[in-house]
Amino acid sequence: MIPRYLFSFNTDTLPSLDCDVLVVGSGVAGLSTALRLSGFADVILVTKSELQASSTMHAQGGIAAVIDKHDSCESHIEDTLVAGAGLCDPEATEVLVREGPDRVLELLEEYHARFDTSGGTLDLAKEGGHTHARVVHARGDATGSEVESALGRALLGEPAVNVMEHHFLVDILLDGGSCVGAIVEDTRRKTLTVVWPKAVVLASGGTGEIYLVTTNPTICTGDGVAVAFRAGARVSDLEFVQFHPTALHIPEEPKFLISEAIRGEGALLVDVEGNRVMEGQHPLTELAPRDVVVARMVEVMKEQQTNHLYLDVRHLDPERMRARFPNIHQHCLEAGIDITRNRIPVSPAAHYMSGGVITDLQGRTDIPGLYACGEVACTGVHGANRLASNSLLEGLVFARRIALSIDEYPGGTRQGARPTISWSGKAEGPRVSEDLLRGNLREVMRDSVGMLRFEKELSGVLEFLSDNAGVLQTEYLDVRGMELKNMFTLAHLITTSALMRLESRGCHRRRDYADLDDWNWRKHIDLRMVEGDVAAETRPQHSRVRPHAGALTDDKDR
Ligand code: SIN
Repeated sequence: MIPRYLFSFNTDTLPSLDCDVLVVGSGVAGLSTALRLSGFADVILVTKSELQASSTMHAQGGIAAVIDKHDSCESHIEDTLVAGAGLCDPEATEVLVREGPDRVLELLEEYHARFDTSGGTLDLAKEGGHTHARVVHARGDATGSEVESALGRALLGEPAVNVMEHHFLVDILLDGGSCVGAIVEDTRRKTLTVVWPKAVVLASGGTGEIYLVTTNPTICTGDGVAVAFRAGARVSDLEFVQFHPTALHIPEEPKFLISEAIRGEGALLVDVEGNRVMEGQHPLTELAPRDVVVARMVEVMKEQQTNHLYLDVRHLDPERMRARFPNIHQHCLEAGIDITRNRIPVSPAAHYMSGGVITDLQGRTDIPGLYACGEVACTGVHGANRLASNSLLEGLVFARRIALSIDEYPGGTRQGARPTISWSGKAEGPRVSEDLLRGNLREVMRDSVGMLRFEKELSGVLEFLSDNAGVLQTEYLDVRGMELKNMFTLAHLITTSALMRLESRGCHRRRDYADLDDWNWRKHIDLRMVEGDVAAETRPQHSRVRPHAGALTDDKDR
């Protein structure tokens, strides 16, 4: 039983704030959406940590966009569809690719992002799954940090946006079937506030933290998906958790990424004997789509009974390597690895949630007034496996569409009135240690819902969740406890979808169903909360859900 809310409350007893739009999250999706909205709306942006703490900050590779005159949108679309293994939404992919170049130019011209150039034009890199060099990058391998800084600078000069750091979205509130409010907690003071906006935009990122081995910062606990799911929104494609092939294989958390762009420069993926493991496996060898590279790595590591392989750049110009990848060079040096002289030990790590809260092309979820942007959303552009460097792009493209859509959104059915909404949980049972359970959950997810899945192990995860179901009833007021409940919810949703999909596709690989099965499984698995349980249904690849169709529940009538 998943309770509707994280804890008991009554809106009449809480302080409140009004605004036009509440944006949740401060990565590329949240910042871009808030900036777009600031032209015509009063915005509150909440972020559970500091403004510039997000996955975006860690993004190394860059932003994929058709900039080179020898490249074409058709080629970028085709590469995205191929990587997505038959489950991308073609219309959403068209939007992403065709609107992408203008969004990159805006970053340059309006927000003064400084991307790397060569000979007076943007320097474009190649990454996995791309048949053309089209990845814009900054400071070599610090693209995310440059984008985040450029947008952050612009946002701080924007009087229409009230940034509230260290504020955690607890839950959203519905009235007349529409999203009309949200409860947020000041995580340092542990106080609650109700925000009454016209619309809420979830831009709260992914869920890598539910895995013990991940490239994501610890704040990525799937909060946005959990909040939307509890409110009755449909979520989809959650079994497609993308593993990045080449995280630095040393004991540290989170895992440091060795960007795919390094393979774009000619790095070789080799085993301990120096044999290239991707040769003869795929026409793009080291630059095959991520799921293909990871699957091959898992096979080789199992055969050779090892837990890592190596990237080798020693045959490449050392000066060029140091200049092109200054952060990677420095981070590895600090770990005692000089990439120009030593091979780099690497292994796969959980990296990106390809699915999320279902949206249409305007970022609308199926709850009126609730929008989702970036990794938390499932726009359909990633299908079963995201193409490298399409994620910052997705945040930029759909942020603009969401702002345009909110400009036209009239507000919930009873907009203006402030309904009284209250809820009382059971809060029973002994309080369990959040840190112990968090560690156990992350270990179980790594071991049983990783890159190769099997029915018995997946069922074991559901048993683990059921044995520890008390966690969902416990009313934690501290952020780690609330995150834990969201992580439990996400683990349940990911595992349920992984158990249901009886085939191997994209980043979902089953040992017991090793083949792709288009006939039965070229479809999405959509999940929705019905009376505290997870209800699953399949949806053919080409069909869309109706946006703003309405939630099943209404908090006012509870
Ligand atoms: C990378 O630089 O390899 C990561 C880029 C991405 O995840 O899109």
